[in-house]
Amino acid sequence: MKRYDELAPSQRTIMTPGPVEVDPRVLRALSYPILGQFDPEFTAYMNDTMEMLRSLFRTTNHWAFPVDGTSRSGIEAVLTSLIEPGDKVLIPIYGRFGNLLYEIAERVGAEVAFIEREWGTVFDPEEVIRAIHREKPALVLMVHGETSTGRMQPLAEIGKVCRELGILFVVDAVATIGGVPVNTDEWFMDAVIGGTQKCLSVPSGMAPITYNDIAAAKINARKTIERGLRTGTDSVSSTSVSRPVIRSNYFDLAQLQDYWSPARLNHHTEMTSMLYALREGLRLVLEEGLEARFARHRVNESALVAGLEAMGLTLYGDPSSKLPVVTCVSIPEGIDGESVRSMLLNAFGIEIASSFGSLKGKIWRIGTMGYSCRKQNVLQLLGALEGVLIRHGAKLHTGAGLQAALDVYDQT
Ligand SMILES: Cc1ncc(COP(=O)(O)O)c(C=O)c1O
Repeated sequence: MKRYDELAPSQRTIMTPGPVEVDPRVLRALSYPILGQFDPEFTAYMNDTMEMLRSLFRTTNHWAFPVDGTSRSGIEAVLTSLIEPGDKVLIPIYGRFGNLLYEIAERVGAEVAFIEREWGTVFDPEEVIRAIHREKPALVLMVHGETSTGRMQPLAEIGKVCRELGILFVVDAVATIGGVPVNTDEWFMDAVIGGTQKCLSVPSGMAPITYNDIAAAKINARKTIERGLRTGTDSVSSTSVSRPVIRSNYFDLAQLQDYWSPARLNHHTEMTSMLYALREGLRLVLEEGLEARFARHRVNESALVAGLEAMGLTLYGDPSSKLPVVTCVSIPEGIDGESVRSMLLNAFGIEIASSFGSLKGKIWRIGTMGYSCRKQNVLQLLGALEGVLIRHGAKLHTGAGLQAALDVYDQT
Protein backbone atom coordinates (compact mmCIF):
# COMPACT_ATOMS: atom_id res chain seq x y z
CA MET A 1 0.00 0.00 0.00
CA LYS A 2 1.28 3.48 -0.85
CA ARG A 3 2.32 5.40 2.28
CA TYR A 4 1.69 9.12 2.52
CA ASP A 5 3.97 11.38 4.53
CA GLU A 6 2.66 13.17 7.55
CA LEU A 7 1.39 16.64 6.69
CA ALA A 8 4.25 19.10 7.30
CA PRO A 9 3.73 22.35 5.37
CA SER A 10 6.74 24.68 5.34
CA GLN A 11 6.75 27.93 7.25
CA ARG A 12 6.57 30.57 4.50
CA THR A 13 6.75 34.34 4.34
CA ILE A 14 3.75 35.04 2.14
CA MET A 15 3.90 38.39 0.36
CA THR A 16 1.23 37.75 -2.27
CA PRO A 17 -2.19 39.40 -2.66
CA GLY A 18 -3.63 36.37 -0.85
CA PRO A 19 -3.79 33.94 0.71
CA VAL A 20 -1.48 35.43 3.34
CA GLU A 21 -0.06 34.29 6.67
CA VAL A 22 -2.53 33.72 9.48
CA ASP A 23 -2.15 34.97 13.05
CA PRO A 24 -1.41 32.07 15.45
CA ARG A 25 -4.59 32.95 17.36
CA VAL A 26 -6.63 32.24 14.23
CA LEU A 27 -4.78 28.97 13.64
CA ARG A 28 -5.54 27.97 17.22
CA ALA A 29 -9.23 28.80 16.74
CA LEU A 30 -9.29 26.40 13.78
CA SER A 31 -8.38 23.51 16.08
CA TYR A 32 -11.13 24.00 18.68
CA PRO A 33 -13.79 21.29 19.16
CA ILE A 34 -16.76 21.21 16.84
CA LEU A 35 -20.13 22.43 18.15
CA GLY A 36 -23.49 21.53 16.65
CA GLN A 37 -24.85 24.20 14.35
CA PHE A 38 -27.90 24.91 16.54
CA ASP A 39 -26.04 24.68 19.85
CA PRO A 40 -26.72 28.00 21.63
CA GLU A 41 -22.97 28.39 22.21
CA PHE A 42 -22.43 28.20 18.47
CA THR A 43 -25.33 30.45 17.49
CA ALA A 44 -23.97 33.03 19.95
CA TYR A 45 -20.67 32.89 18.02
CA MET A 46 -22.65 33.43 14.81
CA ASN A 47 -24.30 36.51 16.32
CA ASP A 48 -20.95 37.89 17.56
CA THR A 49 -19.60 37.47 14.05
CA MET A 50 -22.50 39.44 12.54
CA GLU A 51 -21.93 42.22 15.05
CA MET A 52 -18.19 42.43 14.40
CA LEU A 53 -18.75 42.36 10.64
CA ARG A 54 -20.96 45.46 10.93
CA SER A 55 -18.05 47.30 12.57
CA LEU A 56 -15.63 46.03 9.93
CA PHE A 57 -17.87 47.15 7.06
CA ARG A 58 -18.64 50.41 8.89
CA THR A 59 -22.35 49.92 8.50
CA THR A 60 -25.58 49.90 10.43
CA ASN A 61 -26.99 47.29 8.02
CA HIS A 62 -28.77 44.46 9.76
CA TRP A 63 -27.46 41.92 7.25
CA ALA A 64 -23.78 41.16 7.67
CA PHE A 65 -22.73 37.52 7.64
CA PRO A 66 -20.32 35.20 5.83
CA VAL A 67 -21.23 33.06 2.83
CA ASP A 68 -19.50 29.69 3.02
CA GLY A 69 -17.09 29.37 0.12
CA THR A 70 -14.25 31.53 -1.17
CA SER A 71 -14.73 35.23 -1.90
CA ARG A 72 -16.20 34.45 -5.28
CA SER A 73 -19.03 32.63 -3.51
CA GLY A 74 -19.95 35.91 -1.82
CA ILE A 75 -19.94 37.63 -5.21
CA GLU A 76 -22.09 34.87 -6.73
CA ALA A 77 -24.52 34.95 -3.80
CA VAL A 78 -25.00 38.71 -4.02
CA LEU A 79 -25.27 38.84 -7.81
CA THR A 80 -27.50 35.75 -8.08
CA SER A 81 -29.84 37.05 -5.40
CA LEU A 82 -29.93 40.69 -6.53
CA ILE A 83 -29.95 40.40 -10.32
CA GLU A 84 -33.17 39.25 -11.91
CA PRO A 85 -32.82 37.85 -15.43
CA GLY A 86 -33.07 40.76 -17.85
CA ASP A 87 -31.93 43.39 -15.31
CA LYS A 88 -29.54 45.84 -16.87
CA VAL A 89 -26.23 46.13 -15.04
CA LEU A 90 -23.32 48.48 -15.68
CA ILE A 91 -19.82 47.18 -14.94
CA PRO A 92 -16.85 49.56 -15.11
CA ILE A 93 -13.89 47.20 -15.65
CA TYR A 94 -10.24 48.01 -14.89
CA GLY A 95 -8.74 44.56 -14.34
CA ARG A 96 -9.36 40.84 -14.01
CA PHE A 97 -11.88 41.00 -11.19
CA GLY A 98 -14.11 43.49 -12.99
CA ASN A 99 -14.21 40.89 -15.73
CA LEU A 100 -15.24 38.31 -13.11
CA LEU A 101 -18.23 40.51 -12.22
CA TYR A 102 -19.11 40.57 -15.93
CA GLU A 103 -18.78 36.80 -16.16
CA ILE A 104 -21.05 36.12 -13.18
CA ALA A 105 -23.62 38.82 -14.05
CA GLU A 106 -23.95 37.43 -17.57
CA ARG A 107 -24.43 33.89 -16.23
CA VAL A 108 -27.27 35.00 -13.98
CA GLY A 109 -29.07 36.52 -16.95
CA ALA A 110 -28.23 40.22 -16.69
CA GLU A 111 -28.13 42.49 -19.70
CA VAL A 112 -24.55 43.67 -19.23
CA ALA A 113 -23.26 47.07 -20.27
CA PHE A 114 -19.61 47.77 -19.52
CA ILE A 115 -16.97 50.44 -19.83
CA GLU A 116 -13.30 49.57 -19.67
CA ARG A 117 -10.09 51.30 -18.61
CA GLU A 118 -6.60 50.41 -19.62
CA TRP A 119 -5.14 48.12 -16.93
CA GLY A 120 -2.96 50.01 -14.45
CA THR A 121 -5.41 52.90 -14.19
CA VAL A 122 -8.84 53.48 -12.60
CA PHE A 123 -11.90 55.50 -13.61
CA ASP A 124 -12.43 59.16 -12.98
CA PRO A 125 -15.76 58.88 -11.12
CA GLU A 126 -17.26 61.37 -13.62
CA GLU A 127 -16.65 58.87 -16.41
CA VAL A 128 -18.67 56.23 -14.56
CA ILE A 129 -21.39 58.74 -13.71
CA ARG A 130 -21.73 59.67 -17.39
CA ALA A 131 -22.09 55.97 -18.27
CA ILE A 132 -24.73 55.57 -15.53
CA HIS A 133 -26.80 58.40 -17.05
CA ARG A 134 -26.36 56.93 -20.52
CA GLU A 135 -27.07 53.26 -19.71
CA LYS A 136 -29.66 53.71 -16.94
CA PRO A 137 -28.85 50.36 -15.29
CA ALA A 138 -30.70 48.74 -12.39
CA LEU A 139 -27.35 47.90 -10.75
CA VAL A 140 -23.76 49.14 -10.94
CA LEU A 141 -21.09 46.55 -10.08
CA MET A 142 -17.52 47.61 -9.28
CA VAL A 143 -14.29 46.37 -7.75
CA HIS A 144 -12.79 48.52 -4.97
CA GLY A 145 -9.26 47.07 -4.96
CA GLU A 146 -8.10 45.32 -8.16
CA THR A 147 -5.44 42.85 -7.07
CA SER A 148 -4.63 41.98 -10.69
CA THR A 149 -3.29 45.47 -11.38
CA GLY A 150 -2.76 46.87 -7.86
CA ARG A 151 -5.23 49.76 -8.31
CA MET A 152 -7.96 51.18 -6.07
CA GLN A 153 -11.10 52.87 -7.36
CA PRO A 154 -12.65 55.88 -5.53
CA LEU A 155 -16.29 54.98 -4.92
CA ALA A 156 -18.07 57.64 -2.87
CA GLU A 157 -19.22 59.90 -5.72
CA ILE A 158 -20.42 56.95 -7.79
CA GLY A 159 -22.34 55.59 -4.80
CA LYS A 160 -24.01 58.94 -4.19
CA VAL A 161 -25.28 59.18 -7.77
CA CYS A 162 -26.52 55.57 -7.68
CA ARG A 163 -28.47 56.26 -4.49
CA GLU A 164 -30.01 59.45 -5.96
CA LEU A 165 -31.12 57.54 -9.06
CA GLY A 166 -32.38 54.45 -7.18
CA ILE A 167 -29.67 52.22 -8.69
CA LEU A 168 -28.19 49.42 -6.56
CA PHE A 169 -24.45 49.83 -6.05
CA VAL A 170 -22.62 46.52 -5.46
CA VAL A 171 -18.92 46.48 -4.60
CA ASP A 172 -16.24 43.78 -4.49
CA ALA A 173 -14.11 44.82 -1.50
CA VAL A 174 -12.47 41.40 -1.27
CA ALA A 175 -8.94 42.82 -1.32
CA THR A 176 -9.48 45.98 0.68
CA ILE A 177 -11.61 44.94 3.64
CA GLY A 178 -9.56 45.13 6.84
CA GLY A 179 -6.58 46.83 5.13
CA VAL A 180 -7.96 50.16 3.90
CA PRO A 181 -11.21 51.97 4.75
CA VAL A 182 -14.34 50.40 3.26
CA ASN A 183 -17.08 52.83 4.30
CA THR A 184 -20.22 50.98 3.31
CA ASP A 185 -22.78 53.51 4.55
CA GLU A 186 -20.84 56.69 3.88
CA TRP A 187 -20.17 55.67 0.26
CA PHE A 188 -23.79 54.57 -0.34
CA MET A 189 -22.90 50.98 -1.17
CA ASP A 190 -25.98 48.75 -1.13
CA ALA A 191 -24.09 45.45 -1.03
CA VAL A 192 -20.42 44.79 -0.32
CA ILE A 193 -18.45 41.55 -0.55
CA GLY A 194 -15.26 41.02 1.48
CA GLY A 195 -12.63 38.29 1.52
CA THR A 196 -11.07 36.41 4.41
CA GLN A 197 -7.68 35.36 3.03
CA LYS A 198 -6.30 38.83 2.36
CA CYS A 199 -6.28 41.74 4.83
CA LEU A 200 -8.33 39.83 7.41
CA SER A 201 -5.65 37.12 7.52
CA VAL A 202 -8.06 34.24 7.94
CA PRO A 203 -7.71 31.23 5.62
CA SER A 204 -9.66 31.19 2.38
CA GLY A 205 -13.11 29.61 2.64
CA MET A 206 -15.63 32.24 3.69
CA ALA A 207 -16.89 35.46 2.14
CA PRO A 208 -18.21 38.09 4.55
CA ILE A 209 -20.95 40.18 2.94
CA THR A 210 -23.23 43.00 3.99
CA TYR A 211 -26.27 44.58 2.34
CA ASN A 212 -28.86 47.15 3.30
CA ASP A 213 -32.66 47.15 3.49
CA ILE A 214 -32.98 48.34 -0.11
CA ALA A 215 -31.10 45.27 -1.32
CA ALA A 216 -32.91 43.05 1.19
CA ALA A 217 -36.28 44.22 -0.18
CA LYS A 218 -35.29 43.08 -3.67
CA ILE A 219 -34.06 39.75 -2.31
CA ASN A 220 -37.16 39.20 -0.17
CA ALA A 221 -39.46 39.76 -3.14
CA ARG A 222 -37.90 36.59 -4.56
CA LYS A 223 -37.96 34.62 -1.33
CA THR A 224 -38.95 30.97 -1.34
CA ILE A 225 -38.75 28.29 1.32
CA GLU A 226 -37.06 25.05 0.36
CA ARG A 227 -39.53 22.23 -0.40
CA GLY A 228 -38.43 19.96 2.42
CA LEU A 229 -38.60 22.74 5.01
CA ARG A 230 -42.08 24.09 4.30
CA THR A 231 -44.70 23.73 6.99
CA GLY A 232 -48.45 23.85 6.45
CA THR A 233 -48.51 27.60 7.04
CA ASP A 234 -45.70 28.51 4.62
CA SER A 235 -47.04 29.83 1.36
CA VAL A 236 -43.77 30.89 -0.29
CA SER A 237 -43.14 28.13 -2.77
CA SER A 238 -41.32 28.79 -6.04
CA THR A 239 -44.67 29.16 -7.81
CA SER A 240 -46.15 31.80 -5.51
CA VAL A 241 -43.45 34.53 -5.42
CA SER A 242 -44.07 37.72 -7.37
CA ARG A 243 -40.58 37.95 -8.87
CA PRO A 244 -38.39 35.38 -10.64
CA VAL A 245 -37.11 32.82 -8.15
CA ILE A 246 -33.40 33.01 -7.20
CA ARG A 247 -31.74 30.48 -9.49
CA SER A 248 -29.24 29.05 -7.02
CA ASN A 249 -30.18 27.20 -3.87
CA TYR A 250 -26.74 27.41 -2.24
CA PHE A 251 -26.35 31.13 -3.00
CA ASP A 252 -29.92 32.12 -2.17
CA LEU A 253 -29.50 35.03 0.25
CA ALA A 254 -33.20 34.92 1.19
CA GLN A 255 -32.68 31.42 2.56
CA LEU A 256 -29.33 32.33 4.11
CA GLN A 257 -31.08 35.20 5.94
CA ASP A 258 -33.42 32.70 7.57
CA TYR A 259 -30.40 30.73 8.70
CA TRP A 260 -28.66 33.84 10.07
CA SER A 261 -31.77 35.07 11.92
CA PRO A 262 -33.43 33.82 15.13
CA ALA A 263 -35.55 31.49 12.94
CA ARG A 264 -32.31 29.47 12.33
CA LEU A 265 -34.10 27.79 9.46
CA ASN A 266 -31.68 25.14 8.29
CA HIS A 267 -29.91 25.76 5.00
CA HIS A 268 -26.40 24.31 4.65
CA THR A 269 -24.36 23.03 7.59
CA GLU A 270 -22.33 25.97 8.82
CA MET A 271 -18.52 25.65 8.49
CA THR A 272 -17.87 25.46 12.20
CA SER A 273 -14.08 25.77 12.19
CA MET A 274 -14.05 28.57 9.61
CA LEU A 275 -16.60 30.46 11.67
CA TYR A 276 -14.29 30.17 14.69
CA ALA A 277 -11.41 31.41 12.54
CA LEU A 278 -13.36 34.35 11.14
CA ARG A 279 -14.61 35.31 14.59
CA GLU A 280 -11.03 35.28 15.95
CA GLY A 281 -9.76 37.19 12.91
CA LEU A 282 -12.42 39.86 13.45
CA ARG A 283 -11.59 40.06 17.15
CA LEU A 284 -7.96 40.71 16.19
CA VAL A 285 -8.98 43.45 13.75
CA LEU A 286 -11.17 45.23 16.28
CA GLU A 287 -8.60 44.87 19.07
CA GLU A 288 -5.99 46.51 16.85
CA GLY A 289 -8.53 49.18 15.84
CA LEU A 290 -9.50 49.89 12.24
CA GLU A 291 -7.61 53.19 11.98
CA ALA A 292 -4.44 51.73 13.54
CA ARG A 293 -4.67 48.78 11.20
CA PHE A 294 -5.01 50.99 8.13
CA ALA A 295 -2.03 53.05 9.35
CA ARG A 296 0.06 49.86 9.75
CA HIS A 297 -0.75 48.89 6.17
CA ARG A 298 0.26 52.37 4.96
CA VAL A 299 3.60 52.39 6.78
CA ASN A 300 4.65 48.98 5.48
CA GLU A 301 3.56 49.93 1.98
CA SER A 302 5.66 53.11 2.15
CA ALA A 303 8.71 51.20 3.33
CA LEU A 304 8.29 48.57 0.62
CA VAL A 305 7.81 51.15 -2.13
CA ALA A 306 10.79 53.22 -0.94
CA GLY A 307 12.95 50.09 -0.84
CA LEU A 308 11.97 48.84 -4.30
CA GLU A 309 12.48 52.23 -5.92
CA ALA A 310 15.80 52.86 -4.19
CA MET A 311 16.96 49.46 -5.42
CA GLY A 312 16.33 50.70 -8.97
CA LEU A 313 13.10 48.86 -9.74
CA THR A 314 10.11 50.52 -11.43
CA LEU A 315 6.60 50.28 -10.06
CA TYR A 316 3.81 49.42 -12.46
CA GLY A 317 0.67 51.53 -12.91
CA ASP A 318 -0.63 55.01 -12.21
CA PRO A 319 0.75 55.99 -8.77
CA SER A 320 -2.28 58.16 -7.96
CA SER A 321 -4.56 55.11 -7.86
CA LYS A 322 -2.18 52.64 -6.20
CA LEU A 323 -3.86 50.02 -4.02
CA PRO A 324 -2.04 50.39 -0.68
CA VAL A 325 -2.01 46.66 0.06
CA VAL A 326 -0.65 45.46 -3.31
CA THR A 327 2.51 46.78 -4.94
CA CYS A 328 3.12 45.87 -8.58
CA VAL A 329 6.68 45.90 -9.92
CA SER A 330 7.65 45.83 -13.60
CA ILE A 331 9.91 42.86 -14.24
CA PRO A 332 13.21 44.34 -15.53
CA GLU A 333 14.06 43.77 -19.19
CA GLY A 334 15.86 40.44 -19.73
CA ILE A 335 14.97 39.00 -16.29
CA ASP A 336 12.98 35.77 -16.07
CA GLY A 337 10.26 36.69 -13.60
CA GLU A 338 9.25 33.11 -12.84
CA SER A 339 12.84 32.09 -12.14
CA VAL A 340 13.12 34.99 -9.65
CA ARG A 341 9.91 33.91 -7.92
CA SER A 342 11.09 30.29 -7.68
CA MET A 343 14.43 31.28 -6.19
CA LEU A 344 12.74 33.56 -3.64
CA LEU A 345 10.55 30.65 -2.60
CA ASN A 346 13.13 27.89 -2.65
CA ALA A 347 16.09 29.74 -1.19
CA PHE A 348 14.32 32.16 1.17
CA GLY A 349 10.85 30.71 1.73
CA ILE A 350 9.29 33.95 0.47
CA GLU A 351 6.37 33.93 -1.94
CA ILE A 352 5.42 36.82 -4.23
CA ALA A 353 2.91 36.62 -7.10
CA SER A 354 2.91 36.99 -10.85
CA SER A 355 -0.17 38.41 -12.63
CA PHE A 356 -2.89 37.46 -15.08
CA GLY A 357 -3.89 37.96 -18.70
CA SER A 358 -2.02 40.70 -20.51
CA LEU A 359 0.19 41.35 -17.45
CA LYS A 360 1.41 37.74 -17.15
CA GLY A 361 5.22 37.71 -17.22
CA LYS A 362 5.34 41.54 -17.11
CA ILE A 363 4.87 42.33 -13.42
CA TRP A 364 5.32 40.87 -9.97
CA ARG A 365 2.65 41.60 -7.38
CA ILE A 366 3.71 41.98 -3.76
CA GLY A 367 1.07 41.93 -1.07
CA THR A 368 1.36 43.67 2.30
CA MET A 369 -1.83 42.32 3.82
CA GLY A 370 -3.06 41.47 7.30
CA TYR A 371 -0.67 39.42 9.43
CA SER A 372 1.85 39.31 6.55
CA CYS A 373 2.02 43.11 6.61
CA ARG A 374 4.97 43.38 9.03
CA LYS A 375 8.26 45.27 9.12
CA GLN A 376 10.19 42.02 9.39
CA ASN A 377 8.53 40.60 6.26
CA VAL A 378 9.12 43.77 4.23
CA LEU A 379 12.80 43.91 5.19
CA GLN A 380 13.35 40.20 4.55
CA LEU A 381 11.72 40.49 1.15
CA LEU A 382 13.79 43.51 0.12
CA GLY A 383 17.04 41.83 1.17
CA ALA A 384 16.15 38.54 -0.51
CA LEU A 385 14.86 40.16 -3.71
CA GLU A 386 18.05 42.15 -4.11
CA GLY A 387 20.16 39.03 -3.68
CA VAL A 388 18.06 37.01 -6.14
CA LEU A 389 18.01 39.78 -8.75
CA ILE A 390 21.79 40.18 -8.59
CA ARG A 391 22.04 36.41 -9.05
CA HIS A 392 19.90 36.83 -12.19
CA GLY A 393 22.22 39.49 -13.61
CA ALA A 394 20.15 42.59 -12.81
CA LYS A 395 21.98 45.89 -12.35
CA LEU A 396 20.79 47.43 -9.07
CA HIS A 397 21.74 50.13 -6.59
CA THR A 398 23.15 47.53 -4.25
CA GLY A 399 22.32 48.03 -0.59
CA ALA A 400 20.11 51.08 -1.18
CA GLY A 401 16.75 49.28 -0.95
CA LEU A 402 16.99 48.08 2.62
CA GLN A 403 18.40 51.40 3.80
CA ALA A 404 15.55 53.34 2.20
CA ALA A 405 13.00 51.07 3.86
CA LEU A 406 14.76 51.37 7.22
CA ASP A 407 14.67 55.17 6.82
CA VAL A 408 10.88 55.01 6.43
CA TYR A 409 10.54 52.91 9.57
CA ASP A 410 12.89 55.27 11.47
CA GLN A 411 10.77 58.26 10.48
CA THR A 412 7.55 56.62 11.60
C1 LIG B 1 -10.51 41.65 -6.00
C2 LIG B 1 -10.82 40.18 -5.94
N1 LIG B 1 -12.08 39.77 -6.12
C3 LIG B 1 -12.40 38.47 -6.07
C4 LIG B 1 -11.46 37.50 -5.85
C5 LIG B 1 -11.85 36.05 -5.84
O1 LIG B 1 -11.61 35.49 -4.59
P1 LIG B 1 -11.52 33.94 -4.28
O2 LIG B 1 -10.33 33.44 -5.00
O3 LIG B 1 -11.37 33.90 -2.80
O4 LIG B 1 -12.79 33.32 -4.73
C6 LIG B 1 -10.13 37.87 -5.66
C7 LIG B 1 -9.08 36.86 -5.44
O5 LIG B 1 -7.92 37.02 -5.54
C8 LIG B 1 -9.81 39.26 -5.70
O6 LIG B 1 -8.55 39.68 -5.53
